[in-house]
Amino acid sequence: MAGPILVFDSGVGGLSVVRALRRCLPEAGLAYACDNAMLPYGQREDAWLVQRIQAVCEAAVAASGCSALVVACNTASTLALEALRACLAIPVIGTVPAIKPAAQVSRTRHIGLLATSATVSRPYTLQLIQDFAADCRVTRVAADALVTEAERLVAGERPDRSTLRRSLSPLWDDPELDTVVLGCTHFPLLGPWLVDAAPRPVTWIDSGEAIARRVAQVVTTVTPRQGGEPSFVTAPDECLGRGLASFGFASPRLLHPA
Ligand code: DGL
Repeated sequence: MAGPILVFDSGVGGLSVVRALRRCLPEAGLAYACDNAMLPYGQREDAWLVQRIQAVCEAAVAASGCSALVVACNTASTLALEALRACLAIPVIGTVPAIKPAAQVSRTRHIGLLATSATVSRPYTLQLIQDFAADCRVTRVAADALVTEAERLVAGERPDRSTLRRSLSPLWDDPELDTVVLGCTHFPLLGPWLVDAAPRPVTWIDSGEAIARRVAQVVTTVTPRQGGEPSFVTAPDECLGRGLASFGFASPRLLHPA
């Protein structure tokens, strides 16, 4: 099926997945859609969120004519993948916290999960921990403030160092914790700032490369990339438009979800 690969997130977090996709599939045409009118998703009520994600993705899929949808949002994927697959006729690839690879590399068997309030307590996440990290201690840390800091960064501002330090601090109670899962796609955008805010070196793991590899398996014929790829937003925002342009996207068009 022809058409770009559509990357969806609540905000700019999906751009960390775009970065991984550009490395893995440099020829592939991409499109980007975000629900910036309703950002952040991490503190919203589940039933409302499922309906909203469905409506925005349906509108973005129709507007972009995409061949596949990448839900580049852990908060959306751990809740709404089934609903999206039921209502869309194209492949849907989700993003979930990289618990399994973290458990594979942790030497001390103590890992941290840094994600939104919603993701750290979802049954989907708890099941991932049970299935792949049953022999590990997993410290789950809700860090919704980091979503805002990543948005600021892409809008051209510097993240606030004390907010970063405060958000990470529950991870450091046990000196044995050696691996941190970035379970929100916004967080890899803050990579160097997170390293800087950490009091000691740890291994940081995100899902970007694994998702890109999965997309490459699912989308076997890519539609070639052309300059100024399409992007879609749910509220006008000039700073966001500039941020999207720095990742190769054309000026965003406004979506009107049902
Ligand atoms: N980027 C999203 C994620 O991966 C969530 C950000 C939000 O709370 O909207 O979880």
